[in-house]
Amino acid sequence: SDKPKRIVVTGAAGQISYSVLFRLASGAFLGPNQRVILHLLDLPNMEEVLKGVQAELHDCAFPLLDDVVITSNQAVAFKDVDYAYLVGAKPRGPGMERGDLLKDNGKIFVDTGKAINDNASRDCKVIVVGNPANTNCLIAQHYAKDIPRENFTAMTRLDHNRALTQLALKTGSRVTDIKNLVVWGNHSPTMYPDIRNTTVNGKKATELVDSNWIETEFTPRVQQRGAEIIKLRKLSSAASAGNAAIDHMRDWVNGSDEMQSISFYSDGKTYGVPEGLIFSFPVTTKNGKYEVIKGLNLDDEVSRTRIKKTTDELLSERQAVEHLLKMQDLFSYNK
Ligand code: NAI
Repeated sequence: SDKPKRIVVTGAAGQISYSVLFRLASGAFLGPNQRVILHLLDLPNMEEVLKGVQAELHDCAFPLLDDVVITSNQAVAFKDVDYAYLVGAKPRGPGMERGDLLKDNGKIFVDTGKAINDNASRDCKVIVVGNPANTNCLIAQHYAKDIPRENFTAMTRLDHNRALTQLALKTGSRVTDIKNLVVWGNHSPTMYPDIRNTTVNGKKATELVDSNWIETEFTPRVQQRGAEIIKLRKLSSAASAGNAAIDHMRDWVNGSDEMQSISFYSDGKTYGVPEGLIFSFPVTTKNGKYEVIKGLNLDDEVSRTRIKKTTDELLSERQAVEHLLKMQDLFSYNK
């Protein structure tokens, strides 16, 4: 279209953003006919770095890139944005408990939610990448009362993509041969990568690989892949995380018949997951909306145990930030 779309990326001076931004500008997200304006947000002390990233974006002379806004001001960052990639978060420092991380990042996402509510386009689509992504997403969503709830999602696409490739490598197939794979639950080591309904070239995956491999290699590898990358690269996954964020948003906007994994608000009626968690479910996408795939069977011992574990973790994360979620009642935000 003639009008450029505005895309904000937070944590824009960081690693993941360094791979996302250049692909957003090249058209990997919205295609070759859509001009874009990028909004780069980071903390005030990262201003120099943002200037550097802006300079490099300029140096690419991307035909689709109309402008690059750099700022540490949330109101400026979220002004009129159509899409928000929420990547910025505080990393877990030495000796820091998971609960502390939740609280520190939780506060960031209160402000982010408000800034989206006050400034973004009313149909802004949001992906939360910064960890703990699911619970951060829940907080931002709570403070953005005027934006449809379903517009807030958290990223489990990297876990999904990791699972696809592990299965492809094992079965000597291509990722495009694989259908109906899903990662359930939290983006954390409790996630449940599920290939019970998966086919590879039309054959049932569970007949091509043995249950021991699923149990002792596939599942832990996908769950712990983040740690494996850190060990190898001495840095956390960045290009693959950025790639997954683009995949997630592109398929959400453009639609896809493939089963995907997207974390979104549970309504309490879907697969027995309690209401009010940002939970990863199997979806397809169409006309800018995602729709949960219903009717998959979770009624076996392994699935029950795994779903319970990841659900319990999300419940305890929510409990750790309950004080942030309650504050909203003071302002009578809607549900
Ligand atoms: P990084 O440390 O390189 O970059 C993070 C950036 O966020 C920094 O530039 C920092 O200054 C900025 N930042 C911190 N607080 C901010 C705030 N309040 N507002 C704006 N910017 C802020 O980290 P990296 O490698 O880019 O990772 C970013 C996040 O993504 C981390 O939380 C990481 O755990 C998470 N992640 C999530 C994955 C997923 O699958 N959901 C996969 C990989 C990483």
